[in-house]
Amino acid sequence: MKRIMPIFLILTIMLVLAGCGGEVSESSSITPSSAAGADDISEANSSEAASSDTAGTSGDGSNILIAYFTMPENVDTTGVDAVAGASIVVNDGEVMGNVEYMASVIQQTVGGDLFRIETVQQYPLDHDTLVDQAAEEQDDGARPELAAHIEDPGRYDTIILGYPNWWGDMPQALYTFLEEYDFSGKTIIPFCPHGGSGFSRTERTISELQPGATVSENGLAISRGSVADSGDEIAAWAESLGL
Ligand SMILES: Cc1cc2nc3c(=O)[nH]c(=O)nc-3n(C[C@H](O)[C@H](O)[C@H](O)COP(=O)(O)O)c2cc1C
Repeated sequence: MKRIMPIFLILTIMLVLAGCGGEVSESSSITPSSAAGADDISEANSSEAASSDTAGTSGDGSNILIAYFTMPENVDTTGVDAVAGASIVVNDGEVMGNVEYMASVIQQTVGGDLFRIETVQQYPLDHDTLVDQAAEEQDDGARPELAAHIEDPGRYDTIILGYPNWWGDMPQALYTFLEEYDFSGKTIIPFCPHGGSGFSRTERTISELQPGATVSENGLAISRGSVADSGDEIAAWAESLGL
């Protein structure tokens, strides 16, 4: 009996360890970012950044990357359902930034890996403070440090790139992102919610930052007030890309 017990114990430990290994590899894959609520967003940002500084693989071997930056502002969503706020979409109680919502519809339509471009320094949730900070960063030509990095950029042929129009341009974090990688030989397809300015000249800027890439002229710009009702339009556009 004394000899049998240690063997039994070792077998039990091996079985437990094998079970843990499966969980670890599953949880390290990227799933759509789900912001719990505007108040919870900064918390969600920091926990993602803290847990990993590389991201972007879903493990399905996709060659499509959906990279996006979103900055939903602090909007009171109490009692609100399935509507668009100034820069958010509320659907079944879940609050998402406009870009984030568009990215999720695109991914549901064409698949691919979602990658949220986040900065180490978090942005203020208050609208006026955010607008002032964004203007200052633009004036300074800032390059905010990014909190996460794409694990294996070489595997992607298509980068579907989402960002809000900020002061007639991309947020400065997009400059950091586009200067970090070389997407030569790949296709970049932009999408952008906005408050009336459309893409401004951001498609040209992307071409300048990535001269070796093909920047699609079939990007999708949607007015921020229409994003929540544009699920079908976004899906049809994603389908039309023929990916
Ligand atoms: C700092 C800041 C600057 C903005 N500047 C512009 C602008 O110049 N032109 C425009 O059309 N919309 C502008 N907007 C509106 C955003 O493009 C719009 O609200 C967008 O839906 C935000 O997407 P998000 O919630 O995913 O971050 C600005 C918004 C912010 C926060």
